[in-house]
Amino acid sequence: MALLKSHKALFSLGHLAPCLGSLSARNSSWWGGVQMGPPDPILGVTEAFKKDPNPKKMNLGVGAYRDDQGKPFVLKSVRKAEEIVAAKQLDKEYLPIGGLGDFTKACAQLALGTDSQVLSSGRSITVQTISGTGSLRIGANFLGRFHGGPKDVYLPKPSWGNHTPIFRDAGMQLKAYRYYDPSNCGFDFKGAMEDISNIPEQSVILLHACAHNPTGVDPRPEQWKEMAEIVKKRNLLVFFDMAYQGFASGDIDRDAWAVRHFIEQGHNIVLSQSFAKNMGLYGERVGGFTVVCEDADEAKRVESQLKILIRPIYSNPPTSGARIATTILNTPELRSLWLEEVHGMANRIIKMREQLVAGLKKEGSSHNWQHVTDQIGMFCFTGLKPEQVGRLTKEFSVYMTKDGRISMAGVTSGNVGLLAQGIHAVTK
Ligand SMILES: Cc1ncc(COP(=O)(O)O)c(C=O)c1O
Repeated sequence: MALLKSHKALFSLGHLAPCLGSLSARNSSWWGGVQMGPPDPILGVTEAFKKDPNPKKMNLGVGAYRDDQGKPFVLKSVRKAEEIVAAKQLDKEYLPIGGLGDFTKACAQLALGTDSQVLSSGRSITVQTISGTGSLRIGANFLGRFHGGPKDVYLPKPSWGNHTPIFRDAGMQLKAYRYYDPSNCGFDFKGAMEDISNIPEQSVILLHACAHNPTGVDPRPEQWKEMAEIVKKRNLLVFFDMAYQGFASGDIDRDAWAVRHFIEQGHNIVLSQSFAKNMGLYGERVGGFTVVCEDADEAKRVESQLKILIRPIYSNPPTSGARIATTILNTPELRSLWLEEVHGMANRIIKMREQLVAGLKKEGSSHNWQHVTDQIGMFCFTGLKPEQVGRLTKEFSVYMTKDGRISMAGVTSGNVGLLAQGIHAVTK
């Protein structure tokens, strides 16, 4: 009936068409009213970088790992897994809606631990997703549809830029809690605790499991413990985003500590995982979304609804990356090689942080740059002001986001000296 009505409306509009002749050509198009949107803040940096002819230019905007020659890095474990998968001559049939079973099992185990009681009791469900972004979006949609509490998601201030549109487009309201303290470029523990203790009960709180993006500032274990308690007191639903497992400390288990601690404390969390960074599978889009439930029956019901959500969006996830990740996780030699490689990537970043600070001292900088080595993971929140970032780009061809964040993964032994020189020049 509604369809019939709208058809009628269309028809009667069609009758009016001659009267609309005065509309400009632009407005007569279907999309004449579409306004130009702003460029993506991070991909916009890459565009500007590409146009710069300076051979010494640096792209420290995008969060993708580079080797010490500044080149994209494909892990040896990934290459070997690809060979194994190719040799199997597998078919290209659709995966189930929730993804490859071996993958979702290995993915959940990686996050929750092989000895996880949640996993052995079957009271969780993991679906394969289109990397971390897809996982967050499926999670946001699931909350939008089923969370009985307030539709408010509290993000750390600041948070990864994409969190806001992901949750907003899923119909959730965005709120914030204090997280970063600009006075010492560190964690504002007191502010975070104060704000969290005032969050209305049953709201959703988003926590970065490790290697917080953009600040590189993570709570210490004793701070996580206090946060888990206050979150419990407020009866908040915890949404963990773990896009960098292994990237913070180089140790997969250590980086999953907060997630596992919250679960041990009785939080039935939801969790988003990405294999973009820790396996370098950026374009393969491999991720997982997990819901920890009260019991196995609840998990089955949640699974059925996740499938209903996924089916009309992308029907089922892609095979290739999930096969690679599963082969790595389930083949002991490849798994150890991968763990070594994760360690290697994290260590190279830690070394670059140390060299940057050493370089700044050598240049004669009198500022305290300790936060550069205190912060962890892929990003460093330098504390540079937008005008200093502008100068760094203009005078030294260093491309980064306006908030002063640099991707340490783009810093190499070859360019760290020049970066230190540039930062010193704009901060002295
Ligand atoms: C905090 C955070 N979450 C999620 C993601 C999702 O990444 P992807 O969709 O590439 O897995 C990113 C990527 O930069 C991130 O920084």
